[in-house]
Amino acid sequence: MATIKVRQNGPYLVDVPEDVKLIDWNGNEYVIPRRPFALCRCGASKNKPFCDKTHSEIGFQAAEAAVPGSEDKPAQ
Ligand code: FES
Repeated sequence: MATIKVRQNGPYLVDVPEDVKLIDWNGNEYVIPRRPFALCRCGASKNKPFCDKTHSEIGFQAAEAAVPGSEDKPAQ
């Protein structure tokens, strides 16, 4: 089963047990560097759609959680 983990103030971490295609709006395929891989959520990556850790430099603060209003837990 594929798992997409929303990292606290960070990217979407995509873990899939088999090959997956990531394509743009024209159907062109991105090369997946490795698995799991991280997709940028902050919009500041210089290597979109992948996360290049710029989120930590810009102090990205995400607000959404799966359960709105739930208590935050430490990032893992
Ligand atoms: S989420 Fe990491 S660079 Fe955007």
